[in-house]
Amino acid sequence: MKTIVIKNYGGPEVLQLAETSIPSIADPSQVLVKVRATSINPLDFQIRRGDYAALFDLPVITGHDVAGDIIAVGEAVKNWKTGDKVYYSPRFGGSGSYTEYHLTDESSLSRMPDNISYEKAAAIPLIGGTVWEMLMVRAQLKKGDSILILGGAGGVGTLAIQVSKALGAFVYTTGQSILHKKLKKLGADVVIDHHKENWIEKIQIYTKGKGVNVIIDTVGGATLSDSPLALADYGSVVTLVDIPKPQNLINAWEKNATYHFVFTRQSRDELHHITELIETGKVKPVIDSIYSLENIQKAHQRIEDSKREKPLFGKIVLSV
Ligand SMILES: NC(=O)c1ccc[n+]([C@@H]2O[C@H](COP(=O)([O-])OP(=O)(O)OC[C@H]3O[C@@H](n4cnc5c(N)ncnc54)[C@H](OP(=O)(O)O)[C@@H]3O)[C@@H](O)[C@H]2O)c1
Repeated sequence: MKTIVIKNYGGPEVLQLAETSIPSIADPSQVLVKVRATSINPLDFQIRRGDYAALFDLPVITGHDVAGDIIAVGEAVKNWKTGDKVYYSPRFGGSGSYTEYHLTDESSLSRMPDNISYEKAAAIPLIGGTVWEMLMVRAQLKKGDSILILGGAGGVGTLAIQVSKALGAFVYTTGQSILHKKLKKLGADVVIDHHKENWIEKIQIYTKGKGVNVIIDTVGGATLSDSPLALADYGSVVTLVDIPKPQNLINAWEKNATYHFVFTRQSRDELHHITELIETGKVKPVIDSIYSLENIQKAHQRIEDSKREKPLFGKIVLSV
C-alpha cells in the first residue's frame, strides 16, 4: 500500500511516498479501515519538523484524520462490521492516517455522517473534537453569549464559528478582508481584519467597553496576555496554542478571567455532537483544497506558507 513516511525531520521534502505492507489485525478489538480521505492539521507539520521528536521514533507516519470503510474486524468487535463508513482521529503518538489502510481500536471509531462525502468527513475528526471541547466542555458557551474566535478562516475557526452560531452565540471573528463575505456566510456577525485592524480596540468599540464572554485563541503569540483587554467580567479564554515562553497574565485579574488550556485527545464523545450538527445541516465542513496523497508536499507547503497568494479558508484534504 502507499504510505507517506518521514525518515528524517525537516521541511515538506521529508514526506516521502513509500510502499509498505497492509497491516493485519493483531488484537481482537482492532479494525482495519480502508482510508478514503485524510486531512492536514498543523500538528502534522509540527511533527514533521521535529517539534515532538522526544515522543516519536523515526520513521514516523503522521496524519490525524480518517474517513473510510471498515474492511476487517477483530473477533471481539461487536458494534462494527465490514462495510461500515467511519471517521475518527488516530491516537496521538500512534501510526497516522497518511496511508491507504489504517489499523485502529474499535473504541476510536465514530459513524461517518450520512449526508457528506469522504473528503468532507475527513476535514472534521480532530478539529471537531477540539471545537466541542473548547466551546461546550470548557467555555460552556450558551445562547446569548458573545464570543470572539481569533483565526476564523482556519480549520478550527471555520468550524468554531458555525458551532457557536448553532449554539445561539453572537460571533465576532478575525480574518482577512477578502474572506469577510465567506466568514459571514458561515455565521460570523462581525469580522475584524487582523492584518489592518486592532482586534482589542474593535471589540471595545463594538461591545461599548463591555468585552466578550468567551475568547477562542487559535493564533498564539501575545493573545494569551492581551485577551483580558477584550474580555467581559468573569469571561473565559480558551487556547489551543502552546507557547514555550513566559506569559504575563496580569490583566486577567481585573476581569476575574478563567483560562482553559486545551490539548485534544481522541475525543469520540465530543465528535458525536458535531456529527449531529452536520446531519441536521447546522454545520458544513469547509474545504480549502483537495490534494492526492502523492502531492502531500504541496499540501504541506500550502498550510505553512504565510505569504500564500490565495488565503487559506478551511481544511486542506487529501484524497486517498
Ligand atoms: N491543542 C490542540 O489540541 C489543538 C487542536 C487543533 C489545533 N491546534 C492548534 O491551533 C492552531 C490553529 O489550527 P488550525 O487547524 O485552525 O490552523 P490553520 O487551518 O492553519 O489556520 C490558521 C488560521 O489562523 C490565521 N491567523 C494566523 N495568524 C493570525 C493572527 N495574528 N491573527 C488572526 N488570525 C491569524 C490564519 O490566517 P492568515 O491567512 O491571515 O494567516 C489562518 O486562517 C494551530 O496552532 C494548531 O496547532 C491545537
